[in-house]
Amino acid sequence: MTIPIKTNQEIEKIRLSCQLAANVLDMIEEYIIPNMNTEKINQICHDYIKNVQKAIPACLGYRGYPKSICISINDVVCHGIPNTKKILKIGDIVNIDIAILKNQYYGDASRMYIVQKTSILGKRLCQITLNSLYLSLSIIKPGIPLKKIGTTIQKYVEKHDFSVVQEYCGHGIGKNFHEEPQILHYEGDDQGIVLKKNMIFTIEPMVNTGSREIKLMKDQWTVKTKDRSLSAQYEHTILVTENGCEVLTKQYQENISKFFIN
Ligand code: MF3
Ligand code: CO
Repeated sequence: MTIPIKTNQEIEKIRLSCQLAANVLDMIEEYIIPNMNTEKINQICHDYIKNVQKAIPACLGYRGYPKSICISINDVVCHGIPNTKKILKIGDIVNIDIAILKNQYYGDASRMYIVQKTSILGKRLCQITLNSLYLSLSIIKPGIPLKKIGTTIQKYVEKHDFSVVQEYCGHGIGKNFHEEPQILHYEGDDQGIVLKKNMIFTIEPMVNTGSREIKLMKDQWTVKTKDRSLSAQYEHTILVTENGCEVLTKQYQENISKFFIN
């Protein structure tokens, strides 16, 4: 299998799309408050992407997806559809997933927000999920087996008695929203792929407090935990560099170096 290696010109374009996705996640933070409805959040992001960033919200119309972003609350694992009747309340844990298309290249990122304050379990879930993503970033460099990303995430999450969703994975990204390779967040077959400089892909673990099993809702998009336990997700798009990786979707509030050196 041949994994796309990006040229410097492509990297520049993907870097811009990724920065735009990160900027939307920063911009929307002040709106994640009690009594806000999720369609309003969708609308604010949509208008910002179109009118300020002069870009395209990549989720809108993707395989028939009806909205510009995904908003996944509490037991929703991913692909929650914004709706005027879905109202944020104190204690909710909320994932917002933003994908941007600009100059024909994509960028993709998501993070968790807490509506004011939440349970110890909810906070712990968000922290462990974020830590699992950062831990995987810390081992990336050319020459390592792709497999190591998934095993690192799964081992860390299970050590903390949470579970990793297996039905969705990270993905190569560039001129296509989703391309090779698939990035598993658990120990699985990586087809012998080894990381190379200038590969670009997302890592986006979904972690549940209960079992890893999921259920697709009747709208054919919303995915919930089967046991209705809480679920969290963080997603970064990253570039494999000479000696580590660059976090292309780093946000203002993130307390990390954009470069993980190995
Ligand atoms: N951003 C998601 C991803 O990481 C895409 C969700 S597909 C959508 O691949 F259509 F639901 F938005
Ligand atoms: Co993605």
